[in-house]
Amino acid sequence: MDVIECIYNRRSIRKFKADPVPVEMINKLLETATLAPSSSNSQPWSFVVIQDVNLLKEFSDRSKAIFLEKTKDNASDPYGYRAKLSKPDFNIFYNASTLITIYANSKNKLALGDCCLAAQNLMIAANSLGLGSCWIGFAEPLLDSADLKKELGIPPTYYAVSPMILGYPAIIPTGYSRKAPEILFWK
Ligand SMILES: Cc1cc2nc3c(=O)[nH]c(=O)nc-3n(C[C@H](O)[C@H](O)[C@H](O)COP(=O)(O)O)c2cc1C
Repeated sequence: MDVIECIYNRRSIRKFKADPVPVEMINKLLETATLAPSSSNSQPWSFVVIQDVNLLKEFSDRSKAIFLEKTKDNASDPYGYRAKLSKPDFNIFYNASTLITIYANSKNKLALGDCCLAAQNLMIAANSLGLGSCWIGFAEPLLDSADLKKELGIPPTYYAVSPMILGYPAIIPTGYSRKAPEILFWK
């Protein structure tokens, strides 16, 4: 698959086969993430890999509790997130077997963008290897919490940027909906 094709047919995957992602593939993905450009080649990224489905289930439950507590006084639920995350059997990681989270390990304000570039590399590379991925923003508050960082031995100054689930896709959405590029100036 060439890179343009890989960009066109990458979709967020939310249904996975049970097969685990082999360690060699994880290592390859981590390496492709580190090939992203970064300001002054600072490479301000660190990685946490979780392949323990029981731990992922626990993190899903904790993330849901954080979200529901934070939004408990909201009068409306325009996207249906509260309704969805209130369901006991809803797993925010869609029962994926692997979660890779990129943490920014620098306070430099450019580090966030650098880590997002690494995350995009990882998603495109995953697609080219036949793996599906989906960024799970719902997991970010937990993964960035002081408690969780302490539990996993992550330095308190690092911050979670991109929680990314990975696995072999069981369903691949077709088509995509995108706005045309808004061109502000072109001389
Ligand atoms: C910052 C960010 C946070 C996201 N958080 C979630 C999430 O918590 N759960 C989820 O199912 N999808 C999440 N997504 C996936 C988006 O819903 C998805 O990228 C978007 O709908 C476009 O679809 P596509 O990726 O298939 O092109 C997130 C994507 C981004 C970039």
